[in-house]
Amino acid sequence: MKIVSVVGARPEFIQAAPVSRALRASHQEILVHTGQHYDYQMSQTFFDELGIPAPDFNLEVGSGPHGQQTGEILARLERVLVKTQPDLVIVRGDTNSTVAGALAASKMQIPMAHVEAGERSFDRHMPEEINRLVADCLADLHFCASRVAVQNLAAEGITASVHWVGDVMLDALLQNRPLARRKSDVLARLGLTRGAYALVTVHRAANTDDPARLRQIVQALNSVPESIVFPAHPRTRKALAGLDAELAAHVRLLEPVGYYDMMMLEENARLIATDSGGVQREAYFLGIPCLTLREETEWIGTVEAGWNRLVGTEPTRVREVWFNFAPPAEHPAIFGNGEAAQRIVHILESNPVTFGLPRGHDRAKSEANALAMGMSL
Ligand code: UD1
Ligand code: UDP
Repeated sequence: MKIVSVVGARPEFIQAAPVSRALRASHQEILVHTGQHYDYQMSQTFFDELGIPAPDFNLEVGSGPHGQQTGEILARLERVLVKTQPDLVIVRGDTNSTVAGALAASKMQIPMAHVEAGERSFDRHMPEEINRLVADCLADLHFCASRVAVQNLAAEGITASVHWVGDVMLDALLQNRPLARRKSDVLARLGLTRGAYALVTVHRAANTDDPARLRQIVQALNSVPESIVFPAHPRTRKALAGLDAELAAHVRLLEPVGYYDMMMLEENARLIATDSGGVQREAYFLGIPCLTLREETEWIGTVEAGWNRLVGTEPTRVREVWFNFAPPAEHPAIFGNGEAAQRIVHILESNPVTFGLPRGHDRAKSEANALAMGMSL
């Protein structure tokens, strides 16, 4: 099979790494980087550390308003698809690169698979929710990271093309952790002790673009008596620079860190506080208690399992929970077992995928598929 894989933003590089490795064993993959993320620390570092092959095309779209960025990717990707004529396009996640990839493939009637399909926050104020809804509506194959996602798709009438494979982010973590442990010296470099600091990331538009919410986050972090490391996304750094509130000395604002350093910062933290989808899941994989600085999450399974708590941004609430959050002993494998990429390739090889499959309401088939793949629903 000739497959075009679309990536553009930080989590997509990480998601692409294990799938790319599994695909390339027996298929031709053409990797397209949309250029949505472009700083070294937001892009190239992941290619270097995770051994992702160099992109065959870089659309160099850069930053911009949603319509412009999505539209430019769509137009430039269409030209690549005309030139390469793939059998399948794979998009992942919920970014503007995802939705543009989904549209480009569908308009050209090329079968399209969505990895990390079916996640929902049920908040259409989130640009990511729009991107997911559109990508899932158009996808011919849906690869779900969680059982909740399978149910969300079923509620939208999408069942026949749905496969619960587990989370490729877990594959990436398990494949790269031994190397990260060997290669990262981030704890020593920053003078951190295992279990004696909290890790924070913030980058959601709702938290960075609303000064009132960002101020609340700053106040909340300033109010907790614990060493905090905060690798900041460029949009967050810019928003903080324009804010009339400063982080206290115990909160260390860093440039975005590479994947190895991030894994080590996560694995050794006492607590993680974040609004990132990827970081919430990684906290769960690693068994680190997580506070989510939002009112809702797509990754509701982590909350239901008791390992993630939705705390919003109100300082009193965040402070209240910061030292009083104790997850249970149980830690079910809600994201599979780290073999999602292999499952994806197996499904692609055993189910010929065609463009525009009828939706169907075939829940029984979807569940049978999951069971056949060794996953219990
Ligand atoms: C995007 C995704 C979000 C995902 C996140 C991962 C959309 C709508 N959002 O959000 O779902 O969680 O990526 O990190 O696609 N910037 C730089 N350098 C870069 C990249 C961005 O300085 O390499 C700055 C620019 O000022 C840019 C801003 O960050 O305007 C936002 O970047 P953008 O890609 O539009 O959205 P993210 O917030 O990164
Ligand atoms: N990440 C990283 N360095 C950082 C912050 C995040 O390597 O400084 C990784 C993180 O471990 C996870 C992914 O980036 O694998 C998550 O991306 P992000 O939070 O940007 O997006 P989201 O998952 O919310 O879409």
